[in-house]
Amino acid sequence: MKPINVGLLGIGTVGGGTFTVLKRNEEEITRRAGRPIRITRVADKNLELARRVAGEGVNITDDAFAVVSDPEIDIVVELIGGYGVARELVLKAIENGKHVVTANKALLAVHGNEIFEAAQKKGVMVAFEAAVAGGIPIIKALREGLTANRIQWLAGIINGTTNFILSEMRDKSLPFAEVLREAQALGYAEADPTFDIEGIDAAHKATIMSAIAFGVPMQFEAAYVEGITRLDSVDIRAAEELGYRIKLLGIARMRDAGVELRVHPTLVPARRLIANVEGAMNAVLVQGDAVGATLYYGKGAGAEPTASAVIADLVDVTRLHTADPEHRVPHLAFQPDHVRDLKVLPIEDVVTSYYLRMRVDDKPGVLADITRILADCGISIEALIQREAAQGEAQTDIIMLTHETVERNANAAIAKIEALAVVSGQVTRIRMESLQ
Ligand code: HSE
Repeated sequence: MKPINVGLLGIGTVGGGTFTVLKRNEEEITRRAGRPIRITRVADKNLELARRVAGEGVNITDDAFAVVSDPEIDIVVELIGGYGVARELVLKAIENGKHVVTANKALLAVHGNEIFEAAQKKGVMVAFEAAVAGGIPIIKALREGLTANRIQWLAGIINGTTNFILSEMRDKSLPFAEVLREAQALGYAEADPTFDIEGIDAAHKATIMSAIAFGVPMQFEAAYVEGITRLDSVDIRAAEELGYRIKLLGIARMRDAGVELRVHPTLVPARRLIANVEGAMNAVLVQGDAVGATLYYGKGAGAEPTASAVIADLVDVTRLHTADPEHRVPHLAFQPDHVRDLKVLPIEDVVTSYYLRMRVDDKPGVLADITRILADCGISIEALIQREAAQGEAQTDIIMLTHETVERNANAAIAKIEALAVVSGQVTRIRMESLQ
């Protein structure tokens, strides 16, 4: 059967992996797709690299717009990244009637609504398995495998760089800055690691998952995003003593009033499987009303794991290329006219539990003052540790775990506690999820 022709934009790590895997597994992939999948054109600024990676018989150019306008190309694979030229190219490819496969989570989280609307109008597919959690087929699971369920919540370790950093901080009791340097030397973290360590990359991915889990638009701008840069090794150790691990989680939860969409360091009970996902690995826990809890684990980045997701999309698109657009799986899992305009809740309305650590004077009545404030704010204490003051010191640390409360109440209590004369500095607050 006639091969399907693919134009590849950007031939970095994932592009290289895509060539390798397509070649190595050509026979298997063709048997699955029903026809050969061929990358016939590549656009990259680095022509020499593109020639070396693509090999003979591939038309190489540094003009990506020429590829998206090439009438011979059926599918455009966008691996450029970012939301600048990538957005223009994807929209142009759609306008030209081409299907798009992309690994670009930033683009979809920020401009997804516009892109999917354009694709819908034009009757083309935009596939994005590689955009979330690399090789883990989490988009397929959310969009198709769990389609019988009301998805209640999901929580994911969806940034390998930060999971590696947190694992190293815990294992080796090292400070954040030192482990970040190690992560950069190992090639996990980018030279500018801001998107990873500030939680932005995870928020892009959580935004995409929330949209397909709940049938709501992409609302990245409304997500609450807190990274790991202010995390202290003291809290990682204290969490451990209390039977918890600290993970950077992307969380999406359906509430009556709206959707919770948040990324922040989170205490997770150490006995949960997801708490034991270490190093640069990713995992996503999804709770559906019928299926219960399901867990997806694997490599969230890297050449071949990400290529695995890109090629899965290429096979899907190839299979459905000739199908009536009405009969394809909707881009965002729900039929476009059934997407609900449900808003992301402000962080003050989020309901969760808290780990609180405060430095206090070691004298009578201090604990009573603090617990009174918590009680007045309707916050119940689940566990409490007060350490013996160090020799010769008049101050000590109190660490508390609270039951669930609305964040607005936690903010009020923390402000009142910080205002007490017997409390020094700021209260450290880390959200906590039981993930049950
Ligand atoms: N930078 C990401 C991570 C991989 O560290 O997981 C690409 O999304």
